[in-house]
Amino acid sequence: MFKYRRLLQGAIAFLTAVLVIACNAPSPPTDNSGSGTLTEIPLGVAVAQTSNVALFGQEQILGTQIAETYFNENGGINGKSLKIILQDVAADEQGAINAFNTLINQDKVVGIVGPTLSQQAFAADPIANRAQVPVLGPSNTAEGIPQIGEFIGRVSAPVSVVAPNAVAQALRLNPELQRVAVFFAQNDAFSKSETETFQAAVQDLGLELVTVQRFQTTDTDFQAQVTAALNVQPDLVIISGLAADAGNLVKQLRELGYNGIIVGGNGLNTSNIFPVCQAKCDGVLVAQAYSAELDNAVNRAFRDAYFQQNQKEPPQFSAQAFTAIQVFVEALRSLDQKTPLETLALPDLRRQLRDEIFAGTYITPLGEISFTEEGEIVQKEFFVAQIEMDESGQQGRFAFIEAN
Ligand code: ALA
Repeated sequence: MFKYRRLLQGAIAFLTAVLVIACNAPSPPTDNSGSGTLTEIPLGVAVAQTSNVALFGQEQILGTQIAETYFNENGGINGKSLKIILQDVAADEQGAINAFNTLINQDKVVGIVGPTLSQQAFAADPIANRAQVPVLGPSNTAEGIPQIGEFIGRVSAPVSVVAPNAVAQALRLNPELQRVAVFFAQNDAFSKSETETFQAAVQDLGLELVTVQRFQTTDTDFQAQVTAALNVQPDLVIISGLAADAGNLVKQLRELGYNGIIVGGNGLNTSNIFPVCQAKCDGVLVAQAYSAELDNAVNRAFRDAYFQQNQKEPPQFSAQAFTAIQVFVEALRSLDQKTPLETLALPDLRRQLRDEIFAGTYITPLGEISFTEEGEIVQKEFFVAQIEMDESGQQGRFAFIEAN
């Protein structure tokens, strides 16, 4: 009798263990067989979690995580929950290609928010486009991104509409400005695109372009370029690079004696450059596609959630990442109302979601946005901020400037 009880107890313990394992096992991300059991919608987020590019990627992940929590707490996708699946794009094109392939073929996501760099988007977006998977770039600002294909759009306004605002602001701060030195990272698609815009703005504003200096995003020593530029006595310096290189360049410009205004491009739009240029970041002007002050319900919720986590105002990279998730959520809700998502096979869902995304208008932390037929963001308001560092050079902030 005792023996049977032991056997029975053993069998119960075994069955309990099997049950616990089964309950904890990851459920399939989605049911795309059209069989009607869809409970979780998998959305890919392909941004940089490692490498120097993670200086942007960390801010993007915060934005997407806040969005995932916020939208799931506010009804999800008509009762189904949104599940973000992260893949690291690291610093280069291959990283982005691998992340996109995994998300599309293995994780079977409905769409992708990413990648971090335009340089990566030009390599990875064509893969998603061929697979007919909708992509929203959360930070790709080079010219030509939406034109990669009909499944590709972005919520990050292009350099042509954002960057010139900072040059105009520099001229307001010092109307005597005349001589402009431009620096750019020649191995980076966004930096090359942004410098073209900056150089055109310099000409449009009647300023003189006295030198153009080139560097690599991997450079840490800019002495040769800075010395060459200082020899022609600029009173405005404009930099297009990514966070670490551009931060070091700012630092070395100041160390080698440059006292004039510095305009930084989108690559300098992160507080993660503060540890790089420290006190010497002070005064740099950076155009913004987001202001924490923007007064609508979703931005207030986003700003509060970000502030609670980080004790500071949210940066543009986080706001744009949140916005990309919001666009997917609202487009999925709208599609689900027309055709319940569980009745759609994944390829149909992806195709119909693409159409829904680009047809919509969204009230977001970036204000009201919509898309052109090509998938380019239509956004109304832009801003300029100036970096203010404290005396220790350890803490800083982007102080928004009122245009006049
Ligand atoms: N705005 C930068 C890019 O497009 C991050 O690569």
